[in-house]
Amino acid sequence: MSNLVAVIMAAGKGTRMKSKLPKVMHSLAGKTLIEHVLDIVGRAGVDRSLVIVGHGREGVKALIENRAEIVVQTEQLGTGHAVLQAMPYLEGEQTVLVLSGDQPLLKSETLNELVKLHQAQGASATVLTSYMEQPFGYGRIIKKGENLVRIVEEKDAAPDEREIKEINTGTYCFKGSALKDALTKITTQNAQGEYYLTEVFDVLLKHEKKVLTYRTVNSQEALGINSRGQLAEAEGIVRKNILEHWMSEGVTIVDPASTFIDAEVILAQDVTILPFTRLVGKTKIEEDSVIGPQTNLENCTVGRGSEVTCSVARDAVIGECCHIGPFSYLRPGTKLDARVKVGDFVEIKNSWVEMGAKIPHLSYIGDTHVGKSANIGAGTITCNYDGVNKHHTKIGDHAFIGSNTNLVAPLEVGEYAVTGAGSTITKNVPAKALVVERSQQVVKENWHREKIK
Ligand code: UD1
Ligand code: CA
Repeated sequence: MSNLVAVIMAAGKGTRMKSKLPKVMHSLAGKTLIEHVLDIVGRAGVDRSLVIVGHGREGVKALIENRAEIVVQTEQLGTGHAVLQAMPYLEGEQTVLVLSGDQPLLKSETLNELVKLHQAQGASATVLTSYMEQPFGYGRIIKKGENLVRIVEEKDAAPDEREIKEINTGTYCFKGSALKDALTKITTQNAQGEYYLTEVFDVLLKHEKKVLTYRTVNSQEALGINSRGQLAEAEGIVRKNILEHWMSEGVTIVDPASTFIDAEVILAQDVTILPFTRLVGKTKIEEDSVIGPQTNLENCTVGRGSEVTCSVARDAVIGECCHIGPFSYLRPGTKLDARVKVGDFVEIKNSWVEMGAKIPHLSYIGDTHVGKSANIGAGTITCNYDGVNKHHTKIGDHAFIGSNTNLVAPLEVGEYAVTGAGSTITKNVPAKALVVERSQQVVKENWHREKIK
């Protein structure tokens, strides 16, 4: 499709959301509403996208300025006024697709069908409609036979018009020149005193231009997010679609009802997701890995054949054939090479753990490099923070850290070195050495006292 421009209205405050955040910045399956809409028009093959911003425009701009042209609407005087702001940037011969930033469930195939019909029929304007069982809040499509007569807003509609179930999805296709011309003629004579984009249809019909309707059979596509309730409704639909997609790609999801996977997550074939698991952000899981139950991974990579059980991880990289959990907590900057074991009640932050190392129980590892096949005993703590600065610990390959060792950073423990259980190590340990820091055990024979009667 050549010379197709998308104009996306995203300047409104979203009053009904009752939020500090502009409506289009709210997140749906881990991706903002405006990014969903930009992805949809991108897949539909538009040549340019213009986004009309207003409320909270700095945030919206920062999020999308590398992928869309930004047009500012300083005052929100209605959808017609919003689209008018984009007109100086358009040429008359272009086909203009107008959408709302709050409609993230549209299908790009539907947009393609809309544009195809519009162009094939040489229409001046085509509105995408849908039937809705509960049409409350949407503009209604008033027709005479098959022909559009007008689009009426809920607040302007007569009682019999409110009974109509064919609604305006808020998505349209226009001939650029017809849109430009008609927008200069709309008024604010309506219940809300706003410039309605839908009045463009009145203007075009008055001038006997060809206007069409195109109805999509999937009414879910029309869902506009105006409230938190509608946001949750959309979340449910998107979530179900995502789960169905990954199952069709060969992922086992044992309990879809308790599994939450964000839009940008990538899963390989033969991954298994066990119940009560959330995969968030840009998480990526390779083949044959088993994730869950009760696991939360955010922006993590998991290599092939790993198991992550009852654990939480954020901004962490887990290598191949690792065993994580139950009850491990991997924080940002954790990098685990292949065959690493991290067990129960272990927290790791900003640390690199090399191949085959084991941290099986009750440890805190921060700002540390753990060498290959090192064994970190239960209760090991890297004391990385002196109250002012963070310090680094290096544990050599094959080192054996005895249970309940405190490693006071900055510190280096050489390869094959051993620390005795219960030691507090404050000085570097040479390779292959045994270090013990422990007071002598005192034994007092026959110390047991008889009870005094
Ligand atoms: C609009 C339509 C309605 C349709 C519905 C579909 C009009 C008059 N009504 O109503 O027929 O059924 O969408 O969801 O067009 N916006 C701006 N600047 C403004 C006003 C709005 O950019 O001055 C943006 C909003 O941020 C939003 C979009 O336009 O993304 C739609 O506005 P909204 O107030 O949600 O319109 P609806 O009442 O839903
Ligand atoms: Ca809306």
